[in-house]
Amino acid sequence: MSVADLPKIELHLHHEGAAPPAFIRQLAHEKKMDLSGIFRDDGGYDFRDFSHFLSVYEAASEVLTGPEEFRRLTLAILEESAANGVVYSETFLSPDFCGGGDLIAWREYLAAIQDAADEAEKKFGITLRGVVTCVRHFGPDQAKKAAKCAADTAGDWIVGFGMGGNEGMGQQGDFAWSFDCAREAGLRLTTHAGEFGGPESVRDAVRILGVERIGHGVRAMEDAELVQELADRGTVLEVCPGSNVVLGLFPDFASHPIAKLRDAGVKVTVSTDDPPFFHTTMRREYEKLNQAFGWDAEDFAALNATALAAAFCDDATRERVQKRLES
Ligand code: ADE
Ligand code: ZN
Repeated sequence: MSVADLPKIELHLHHEGAAPPAFIRQLAHEKKMDLSGIFRDDGGYDFRDFSHFLSVYEAASEVLTGPEEFRRLTLAILEESAANGVVYSETFLSPDFCGGGDLIAWREYLAAIQDAADEAEKKFGITLRGVVTCVRHFGPDQAKKAAKCAADTAGDWIVGFGMGGNEGMGQQGDFAWSFDCAREAGLRLTTHAGEFGGPESVRDAVRILGVERIGHGVRAMEDAELVQELADRGTVLEVCPGSNVVLGLFPDFASHPIAKLRDAGVKVTVSTDDPPFFHTTMRREYEKLNQAFGWDAEDFAALNATALAAAFCDDATRERVQKRLES
């Protein structure tokens, strides 16, 4: 059996970023919207660099105009994830793309997404949980709206709060109010750090925001003391190697620091981030890690154990997913 066939846990997936280009093109066609500028001739998403990626992502999201579009999107994402062997996934949902931060609208979007997730669990045997994310480059005031939506819907299904977007804008600490609000509502915390920001961004994330997981975090590798601090704290990195390679952080998988971080005692997990944008899948991530570092079934079992322990779901869900990993 190839390592790519193993069951998988994915902790870092952006809902809009998981939309296949054909899905977005079809919706644009139905709504008579012209999105031709964001696609390459071969049909894939077209972007030059990270900030262009973020604007193409936001342009594509414009066709996701209501709960019904998110219901369809959720089913499409989960069918694809399940086909890649994913048995449990956490997805980043932004109130900014689901009603613009309005609480009543957010609840309607969420109901549609959860409905689709229930259907997918029955059909494809995959469990989904939601992590509400604010968008860093929309600023701290907009983030507060996202945090209030998150706090209002915190529970068995919305299990976490986090932040994506352009790490070049502002500081992690500018968003402390939102992270405190989410924490007080019982949500678990993660934030993008150490992707395009350096080690100081990761340090601020754990020390100021108090997050227990970090989206990416790979640039912590530039600071040995910080690597030790992450290992000591037990901070879990949601590493997305394929995303990092396409966005130019590292030239290839062999140069990616995931293996060095793991060997230094940092808890690492593997995810796809925005799979169709980065021409990846969870199967491909496993294959590439196997080729680059020789990771075998035992390594991936340990990786999945770390991911399941770090998942923000409740223990009953964790036990149910554990059985899927074992079967
Ligand atoms: N939003 C979607 N993908 C992202 C990434 N890789 N970094 C920051 N924000 C994002
Ligand atoms: Zn991400």
